[in-house]
Amino acid sequence: MGAEVEVEQVSDSGARALKVAVAGKGGVGKTTLASLLAGYFRDRGRRVLAIDADPSPCLGEALGFPAEKLQRLSPLSEMDELIAERTGSESGGFFKLNPRVDDLPGKFSQVHDGVRLLLLGSVQHGGAGCFCPASTLLQQLVRRVMLSKDEVVLLDLYAGVEHLGRATADSVDVMLIVVEPTMRSIKTAIQVRDLAADIGITNVLLVGNKLAGEEDAKFITKNSSGFELAGLLPFTGAAFAADREGSALYRLDPSLSLAIEEIANQVEFSVAAAAF
Ligand SMILES: Nc1ncnc2c1ncn2[C@@H]1O[C@H](COP(=O)(O)OP(=O)(O)OP(=O)(O)O)[C@@H](O)[C@H]1O
Ligand SMILES: [Mg+2]
Repeated sequence: MGAEVEVEQVSDSGARALKVAVAGKGGVGKTTLASLLAGYFRDRGRRVLAIDADPSPCLGEALGFPAEKLQRLSPLSEMDELIAERTGSESGGFFKLNPRVDDLPGKFSQVHDGVRLLLLGSVQHGGAGCFCPASTLLQQLVRRVMLSKDEVVLLDLYAGVEHLGRATADSVDVMLIVVEPTMRSIKTAIQVRDLAADIGITNVLLVGNKLAGEEDAKFITKNSSGFELAGLLPFTGAAFAADREGSALYRLDPSLSLAIEEIANQVEFSVAAAAF
């Protein structure tokens, strides 16, 4: 076995477990936000599982995972043998709707800098009625993954939420929808929120990203009525530097810490409020 297996250094923070999904229009900063929250919660002693649900994954790069660790990761959706074994689908016809999934994060993830990363690959439409072994396994995994009470699961979604599916919806504590200061991304946010409501996710918060100044903040607040705002992230040149260097933005730009802390606090507050 490799000598450089890394495990999370976690103390029991006593905080409640949290499952956060991040959605929004292409390119708005979903992966960036998921990576920043991963760094924030990790630094607060939380156990963090980051799940990349984008068919062209890049959360690992955003978290600063080195290439050799990324090479050891494969999307679960492409593990045909595993899917067949767990769901019993190789016997044809029927397959199990509650396959065993509890060991999958431990077996098929990699850990870097205290954050565990799992690649889901493409999850097909679940809410709309896709009923296949791969989708069943992935949805059950997202639904049931939650290992300890202080764990934070961050789901970096692929644009919309349809692929998340109704089966997983009841396990998501909060959905963050990311927007840029553009009408198009706000329009998408509204669509995503409606789709989320269709599958039963109602605790939804908006995050504004790539703000160049006050005007952008005003634009987002003015055009996002009906949304509760979790926070606003400034545009930062460090995002490009992080990409070029393959480092985590969380480590590179401390000026984001306040905004991320506010977003994380809003997340925890909304989840606590929803539990009442
Ligand atoms: N606050 C920011 N300031 C400057 N650049 C940013 C910021 N947030 C994200 N970016 C940049 O915007 C681009 C898209 O970000 P990111 O990959 O996080 O978006 P995404 O929504 O996950 O995209 P996709 O839909 O392709 O998955 C990246 O080049 C990223 O570095
Ligand atoms: Mg992304």
